[in-house]
Amino acid sequence: MRWPNGLDGLCYGGDYNPEQWPESTWVEDVSLMRKAQVNLVTVGVFAWSRLEPQPGRYVVDWLDRVLDLLHDGGVKVVLATPTAAPPPWFSLAHPDALPVTAEGVRLHHGSRDTYCAAAPAYRDAARAVATMLAERYRDHPALAMWHVHNEYGTICHCPHAAAAFRRWLRERYGDLDGLNQAWTGSFWSQSYSDWAQVDVPRATQYLANPTQVLDFRRFWSDELLAAYVEQRDVLRRATPDVPVTTNYVLADWVPVDHARWSSEVDLVAIDHYPGETDGRAEEQTAFAADLARSWAGRRPWLLMESAPNLIYRYAEGVYAGKEPDRMLRHSLAHVARGSRGAMFFQWRAPRGGAEVFHSAMVPHAGADSRTFQATTRLGELLTGLAETDAGTVAAHAAISWDAASGWALQHPGMPSRHISYADEVAAAYRALWRCGVTTDVVCPTAATFDLTGYRMLVLPALYLMSDAVADAVAAWVHDGGHLVVSYLSGVADPAAQVRLGGYPGALRDLLGVRAEQFLPLEPAATVRLTGGRTGRLWQERLTAPDADPVLRYAAGVLAGQPAVTRRRVGAGTAWYLSTRLDDDGYRDLLAVIAAEAGVLPVLPGAPAGVEAVRKVAGDDRWLFVFNHGTTPVEVDVWGEDLVSARVVSGAVRIAEGGVMVLREQPPRRRRRRAH
Ligand code: GAL
Repeated sequence: MRWPNGLDGLCYGGDYNPEQWPESTWVEDVSLMRKAQVNLVTVGVFAWSRLEPQPGRYVVDWLDRVLDLLHDGGVKVVLATPTAAPPPWFSLAHPDALPVTAEGVRLHHGSRDTYCAAAPAYRDAARAVATMLAERYRDHPALAMWHVHNEYGTICHCPHAAAAFRRWLRERYGDLDGLNQAWTGSFWSQSYSDWAQVDVPRATQYLANPTQVLDFRRFWSDELLAAYVEQRDVLRRATPDVPVTTNYVLADWVPVDHARWSSEVDLVAIDHYPGETDGRAEEQTAFAADLARSWAGRRPWLLMESAPNLIYRYAEGVYAGKEPDRMLRHSLAHVARGSRGAMFFQWRAPRGGAEVFHSAMVPHAGADSRTFQATTRLGELLTGLAETDAGTVAAHAAISWDAASGWALQHPGMPSRHISYADEVAAAYRALWRCGVTTDVVCPTAATFDLTGYRMLVLPALYLMSDAVADAVAAWVHDGGHLVVSYLSGVADPAAQVRLGGYPGALRDLLGVRAEQFLPLEPAATVRLTGGRTGRLWQERLTAPDADPVLRYAAGVLAGQPAVTRRRVGAGTAWYLSTRLDDDGYRDLLAVIAAEAGVLPVLPGAPAGVEAVRKVAGDDRWLFVFNHGTTPVEVDVWGEDLVSARVVSGAVRIAEGGVMVLREQPPRRRRRRAH
């Protein structure tokens, strides 16, 4: 991973859209940025129609002045290519490059992302505008990093996409026999006898072919990556020393396998907009940050966008407020878990446009506002926390995340539409988070998949599993790893074909169990388990020929049969969960397994709602402690709190919604000083 050039310490700023404002506002912007200690802004993300109002006619004098002004004000720039928002002339000139839905509806200009990334005209235009920016700004002293596009994730079903999909499939399967076999073409008369018959998954009568749909997502991940790489290479050629990145969007509609993309970016950058208000936003924040750190190869990364004062509850269709203390906690939680700073969408709230009420560091009310006070406070804090940037986070526990398993589980032909991969991973992560254990995320399909150094591994609903991954997991357990596997793992191979002989196919022998039937539960139903626990969402008719039942079903059709099992394997253990344990049960079980594995909480005995993360650089250690609760708590810590500038030790009170960042002195140095 590489860093924005010319920046020491932590990055602070956000998306800046000067094209929406008169020049007099730019001057005020830079002065407010200085006041808030903003040192980095992303410029030009959606400025294509301003930069190129007519084909090939570039108007850049305004951008020259913006960059000069920012440079004079000491603010560095992440210069974006504007290719996520093609201008009106482009769509008129190239209607074939407008995106088409699965229903065959061609979408029109009028929003953003109105392109098909497989359309040659779009790719040419995108490369051309990136080339223009690279040539013009290659030597500008404000340029710290390139930001390609915005949140790659748009798919299309047009003829260009279909042709590119066929090319991708030929590459993957070689010939039609391979394709027909992988897609189970014998089912419902879907064997192809000519490549021209193979199409993208369009709206169809009933259930679509699951492997076709899965491959379409994989194809789009690769196609979008190719579009990114083309622009990146243009920028790299002009400025080999300036890092290039793109901002990842995290959502289950996104057809991007970020684990596979991460070797192609110079710095992993994510956007994060947690949608929950009931305390889940904090877990979501921790998970997103751990995911980003893992994508970055456990090295630092960057929170490129977050919301200054709103939580977007898209499903509910309503925005919820985000109080300043929550904004600070979320920002610092990202920093604690390896982000090289905190960036926002956006610097200044616009006067109009589709996102007119999205939040900003400078809100509609202006600088005389609680929001801008919070902006300034965060700037001060981040400046004071610059030294923590040297630290890295170490984890001995890991959880798996596999984009393709998530896509496969979305197919409506699955046994329960109430199972969501993201929820399964979130539930397992929540249990670990509530144990106070720091967790990495491992991506089994990534070239970097490696379990070395982990003592505990949780595989929630890892539906697709290759033999190689199953073998690697088994070898790791034999060598002393403590494995926890949940239902719906190892069921299918990478082509989404079920492994025969009983579930969980690829892991059956390792776990010593065999399930012969899935019996999913209605969303509101629960099933009693022994030990006073409950299960929900899922249950399985399970036998444990070579494992010890730890919990059994205590009611219902499975009463008396194993629900949770444990098997000793070599120097390790392998646990299987055939139902979704209630949250406390899940946490308690993982706490027992973590203790057996020697995985310790960061802050043993911390009260509920307290999150602690430690960063380490040689002898230097920083402990970030967050009280996400609504009442003050006491924690047993010591060191110099960089937030309050106090030296603390022993039972230290931390206010509700409060944060401490303790510079913990290494015991060796403390002893020396004491003598
Ligand atoms: C992000 C996107 C921004 C803006 C923001 C909304 O996902 O990158 O451009 O739309 O959401 O707050």
